[in-house]
Amino acid sequence: MELNIALLKGDGIGPEIVDSAVAVLEKTAAKFGHKFSFTPYLIGGCAIDETGIPLPQETVDGCLASDSVLLGAVGGPKWDDQPGNNRPEKALLGIRSALGLFTNLRPAKLYPALRAASPLKDEIVGKGFDIMIVRELTGGIYFGDRGYRNGKYGQEAYDTEAYSVTEIERIGRVAFGTAMKRSKRVCSIDKANVLESSRLWRKTMHRLAEEYPEVEYSDMFVDNAAMQLVRDPKQFDVIVTSNMFGDILSDESSQITGSIGMLASASLGETSRGMYEPIHGSAPDIAGQNKANPIATILSGAMMLRYSFGLSAEADAIENAVDKVLDAGHRTADLMGSSEGTPLTCTEMTEKIIEVL
Ligand code: IPM
Ligand code: MG
Repeated sequence: MELNIALLKGDGIGPEIVDSAVAVLEKTAAKFGHKFSFTPYLIGGCAIDETGIPLPQETVDGCLASDSVLLGAVGGPKWDDQPGNNRPEKALLGIRSALGLFTNLRPAKLYPALRAASPLKDEIVGKGFDIMIVRELTGGIYFGDRGYRNGKYGQEAYDTEAYSVTEIERIGRVAFGTAMKRSKRVCSIDKANVLESSRLWRKTMHRLAEEYPEVEYSDMFVDNAAMQLVRDPKQFDVIVTSNMFGDILSDESSQITGSIGMLASASLGETSRGMYEPIHGSAPDIAGQNKANPIATILSGAMMLRYSFGLSAEADAIENAVDKVLDAGHRTADLMGSSEGTPLTCTEMTEKIIEVL
């Protein structure tokens, strides 16, 4: 296959981890006889520095013209004083929306080799867990009406959560479809005891559930879900939830797997073009020091091969290489305690994975 991949390296550790994923993708292409071309575009703080805005039109056009997009991370203290609509994070929302990526898949599974890094007790983890968070990505409070107005106590700021049946149905179908390929359980998470938008969410999910009789459906309030994730994560298979709840619960899910440096994500829409990125941020504190864990981005590359291009053998090869390297005891700093010897650098970890490939 010949594929054009847009690279949005972004800020902080973004460039290092994207370079790692590109090296792994190139090795995979060579091994399986594909040709991948990579074109970088600016996004986030680096785009503000160069062009004055976080998401230049050239970046949007470049992504739209590519077969898929690999993203590092955006943001950092340097751009904290930017006004709300010109912050690096705004570019992330802008590109998700411009590419129509309403689905965000965030798998959280416990790697047996990283068991020690999980803060959960043995009796809670048992034989491990494997959760797929299906987060709605282009609606809800992230995109709702916002601004300033005069309120009861003077000037106030507001943001609005709004969901249409159409938006709920399309993310719901992705969740049920995903569950059909896994252990056939969907838990929809909302705050229907308080929010009107959640009541519509729940009603719509219930209606969809009837179309998928093989799937065991349940719903849960988000506060309870936050508790259940650390009390008994094994109970979850597919979780489907709104943009903001998904943002929060996916960070929690990553922490119970041991490290946020391990978790990949896929953002998908109606076409095969997706955007793939680690769920962690730009980690400005370790940027440029070759200390970052590249695995989440490397695994995002594997997700791209699987979800955008149907190259499952290639994706398996990358995932197996990561498993083997972890099983052999190799660790970046985030995956080890302070007394366990010298961690691998970002480039060393990348080389180990490429060696196994
Ligand atoms: C994420 C991030 C983003 C989000 C931020 C940086 C806008 O936290 O991808 O989880 O909230 O979606
Ligand atoms: Mg987040």
